[in-house]
Amino acid sequence: MTAEEAAALVQPGSCIGFSGFTLVGYPTQVPKAIAGLGRADKLTVLTGASVGDELDGELTRAGLVAFRAPYQSDKALRNAINAGQVGYEDFHLSHLPMMVNRGVGPRLDWAIVECSALTEDGIIPTASVGATDSFVRMADRVILELNQDLPDALYGMHDIFTVGDDVIPIRSASDRIGLPYIPCRADKIAAIVLTGDSGSYPHFKEPDDISVQISENIVGFLKAEVEAGRQPQNLRPIQSGVGNVANAVLSGLGRDFRGLSMYTEVMQDSALKLVRDGVIAQASTTALSLSREMQEELYGNIDYYRERIVIRPQEIANNPEVVRRLQLISMNTPIEVDIYGNVNSTHVMGSKIMNGIGGSGDFARNAGLTIFSTGSLAKNGDISCIVPMVSHVDHTEHDVDVIVTEYGVADLRWKTPRQRAEAIIENCAHPDYRPMLREYFEEACRTAGGHTPHVLSKALSWHERFLNTGSMKL
Ligand code: COA
Repeated sequence: MTAEEAAALVQPGSCIGFSGFTLVGYPTQVPKAIAGLGRADKLTVLTGASVGDELDGELTRAGLVAFRAPYQSDKALRNAINAGQVGYEDFHLSHLPMMVNRGVGPRLDWAIVECSALTEDGIIPTASVGATDSFVRMADRVILELNQDLPDALYGMHDIFTVGDDVIPIRSASDRIGLPYIPCRADKIAAIVLTGDSGSYPHFKEPDDISVQISENIVGFLKAEVEAGRQPQNLRPIQSGVGNVANAVLSGLGRDFRGLSMYTEVMQDSALKLVRDGVIAQASTTALSLSREMQEELYGNIDYYRERIVIRPQEIANNPEVVRRLQLISMNTPIEVDIYGNVNSTHVMGSKIMNGIGGSGDFARNAGLTIFSTGSLAKNGDISCIVPMVSHVDHTEHDVDVIVTEYGVADLRWKTPRQRAEAIIENCAHPDYRPMLREYFEEACRTAGGHTPHVLSKALSWHERFLNTGSMKL
């Protein structure tokens, strides 16, 4: 069918599970055609994680989205959510497929899926799986975008396993425990649209001095963990988060480590380069979120990468059972951190959603070692990323082991809240904000006391000041 013919099948009020995860593997033509027809409004739109403007942007601008979950990074959609025009629920990424599979939530009318190939057994995904397996399993009907530009040699990279009552038998990142395709009966497929469109590509900033220093601080910390016998020479498997900071942090590992493995939800450019250079020997992910240049590297050398990378459903990639068993080193980027180690990954100034929690909670709580790293400042120094109290909490102090900025490392393990505050202020805060943080902490200890001292009337005053004056500085 044409994209327009397929789009015409979608009724107003439908719940649609789209393939796609961190800008890779999402359909582009059918969503654009749904937006163009403008008929199917009040849609519930589910994806694995973030998708590009051809999907989220088009449907949002056409005013067709009523509810969106579980993670997004599109500007038009983010603005519509923050304006209250689109409902949004920010699920842990491992929870979404669990709920879909159990029938918790709306009935799924459609799975609209980009694929690289189709066999009599099922669907061969692209460079992401995300929640597509769950959407295909649970949806009434399926619409496929068969991307003819993608290599057939992607076959064999995927490992589709359905969580049941038994254990998930993964003991190392490279274990294959499922099928190389998403099972799908032919009679469930309502339309196949032939495309050659790749959608948007993520763009990563070149690492700057600050992210290089953060990376060096993490490498130094991990080397000390090895020397202390708390990590093996080649480290436990690594999970690395989304964005520029995560991309830069990972690239630094190549200088000092070899034979690494990754068990993660997303591999960005620097991760693929470490596989190419033999630093990462085996990797498991649910998406390869790559710039155009690195996507060409992947598809041009697919046989090499197929032997070293497994692409799994996000329910397996982010599964707490496996994350704990493998004792992962989890490395993610916060928006802000407070002096006691609580982390805000999702909201700017308490109210406005940025992207969502993604998998950071799946990993942070269950990993063997949980690290959050960020530059100490944002917005040209008008914001301190270390604050007295976070304006929104995604990861509590109980889930956070180590905070890293360009100034240093605060190892929070076996520390009381007051000791944590001292380590974070002295090792991680920017010198411009350290005196203000010290003053806040000393006043809190003097006046409120208690186990975790706070001056409640001032705890969020830094955010208020930024909103009123454009700077957290006094
Ligand atoms: N207050 C307000 N804004 C802040 C901020 C703060 N404390 N810290 C950063 N920002 C802004 C930056 O200025 C930048 O704004 P811009 O887009 O207008 O330039 C934006 O946030 C992104 O910051 P950047 O430094 O480029 O970071 P990043 O690309 O590494 O992304 C997150 C950081 C937090 C947005 C990103 O990691 C994320 O969405 N995390 C949540 C999901 C997650 O952790 N998933 C992990 C499993 S894969």
